[in-house]
Amino acid sequence: MVKPTQDAKFGDFQANCAMPLAKQRGTNPRTLADEIVGKLDLADLCQPPEVAGPGFINIRLKDDWLVEQTNRNVADSRLGVAPAAKPKRIVIDYSAPNVAKPMHVGHLRSTVLGNALYRVAKFLGHHVLGDNHIGDWGTQFGMILFGYKNFLDHTAFERNAVGELARQYRLVSQLSGFHDAKGEHPKAETRLAQLQIDLNAAETNKPANDKSAEKTLKKLRTDVSDVREQIASLKKQIEVVESSPPLKALADAHPQIAELARLETAKLHGGDEENTRLWNQFVPQCLAAIQGIYDRLDIRFDLTCGESFYNPMLADVVAEFQAKGLASESDGAICVFIPGNSAPFLIRKRDGAFTYATSDLATIRYRVNDLQADTMLYVVDTRQSEHFRLLFETAKLWGYGDRELVHVNFGTILGKDGKPYKTRSGDTIGLESLLDAAVAKARQIVNENDDGKPEGRELSDAERAAVAETVGIGAIKYADLRHNRESDYVYDEDKMLATNGDTATYMQYAYARVAGIFRRGGINRETLRSGGGRVVFTHPSERALSLQLLRFSEALDGVLAENRPNILTDYLFATANSFSTFYQECIVLKEPDEAIRTSRLLLCDLTARVIAAGLDLLGMKTCEQM
Ligand code: ARG
Repeated sequence: MVKPTQDAKFGDFQANCAMPLAKQRGTNPRTLADEIVGKLDLADLCQPPEVAGPGFINIRLKDDWLVEQTNRNVADSRLGVAPAAKPKRIVIDYSAPNVAKPMHVGHLRSTVLGNALYRVAKFLGHHVLGDNHIGDWGTQFGMILFGYKNFLDHTAFERNAVGELARQYRLVSQLSGFHDAKGEHPKAETRLAQLQIDLNAAETNKPANDKSAEKTLKKLRTDVSDVREQIASLKKQIEVVESSPPLKALADAHPQIAELARLETAKLHGGDEENTRLWNQFVPQCLAAIQGIYDRLDIRFDLTCGESFYNPMLADVVAEFQAKGLASESDGAICVFIPGNSAPFLIRKRDGAFTYATSDLATIRYRVNDLQADTMLYVVDTRQSEHFRLLFETAKLWGYGDRELVHVNFGTILGKDGKPYKTRSGDTIGLESLLDAAVAKARQIVNENDDGKPEGRELSDAERAAVAETVGIGAIKYADLRHNRESDYVYDEDKMLATNGDTATYMQYAYARVAGIFRRGGINRETLRSGGGRVVFTHPSERALSLQLLRFSEALDGVLAENRPNILTDYLFATANSFSTFYQECIVLKEPDEAIRTSRLLLCDLTARVIAAGLDLLGMKTCEQM
């Protein structure tokens, strides 16, 4: 309950423990606070603590102590961040796209959040393994196998294999979606008609001031609008195919397409020779396409053990559950029944197929036995919460209760209409084109900024392009990280590239601004650091900035405690603001007193290092000049 104060006039930290404690004991909170203060021994780092208001304990660090710590950090390549006393072995499961289709906007969050956690954990001294648990074994492969065998455009495949496979995937899912929608549509209309009858009846017979009738009405109204929306989307699926004669002809010729695509998956899983050969050809091609995005995003993994990697272990996993009496047969399927849960965890289907769940159980066993993991983080969409809840419960039954299993869940990226971000025609947005668009917009901003410099442009075209890539990609990553991960957020290119505000661009400018100070002053930063000068306080904003810089380590601990990178973005934003105030209020290069000038330059340097390190831990780069 010791927290940084909101207002500097109450000191640097505030302890609010006296109030709840006094309540528990039935005593006066102020007296209790006085008693606590009487027993505190903080003389080496704080001024005497003060009790304020109903019983807040205000703590102000001694300037001497603060100066000492700051000077220590100036000389420390780790910027005052001590490595963990007890390093953990952490496996972070992130990104994990299904590789049969190109990466899209839905993969952004897991990739960016997971990578930030990976970097922070590693910097804090933990043994971390980043594992890309790709979907390389699922129903999507059945779809592209079916498409490849029936609809392939050979010339297109020669030219761009992955592009053509992606087209096959879209085509097959479009055609099977069409048949599904044809079947679903009349049922949905019937449901709507019934709901409308119910709603009319409820509206006419509604008693006045009746809470529960009010509730029923509300529920009916949302149901009606949900079914309407569902109908609209079914109609759209039908319409797309019916409005195109060639698509319609294909759909008519393949009424059983969904079933046949499933059969292709089953054949692959059963070891069918042709499908195995094709799979072995497709997977490396798909992975190479995805690698292009990872390179651009500067994302690397220690392992890429996808679903197919676990396939040989699945039969054994099921056998083990059965042998231990943890799973039983129900309707031909094998299920784990978790005490206190009505939903069973299905580990083998009636037709003998293993599930996503089976493969995740094999994954846990592998991560514990082979990778020696004591903590496993799953950076996966909130929509899979139920799966992970059951998975973790099942793992506990299985004997892995001593391991930490965490679903690091996150919300959805929305378009400006407040719905999941899609193109105007309703397709998912490819990650590649998303990156291209942000970089193009960043390029405009970089051009304008550089053209507007008082002494004329400073950057060559190649430099401008490099800065635009750094700024554009940084903007996307930062916008994703700065939100509370559980929240949905609206994808807004203009906002994320704003040069003023809580954006990567603002932070990158802050960094380049400091770099500019050194460039203009002709000062070498390493020489400055080793030159024997020291930070001293002559102005309140120097002290405030020092204190802020000292909190870097606290921010990183916060990130890992809750798996929340936004704690670090908040910290960096506050740091950039604190620097801004300092730079407005204190003269740096033109300061006549040499000791003060050196002190301020050291603060500038430390700020730049903290910002660059913080951005780097979030997976973003900086530029010396923008
Ligand atoms: N491939 C999965 C999907 O796209 C995500 C996998 C997440 N990791 C896991 N171990 N289940 O939904």
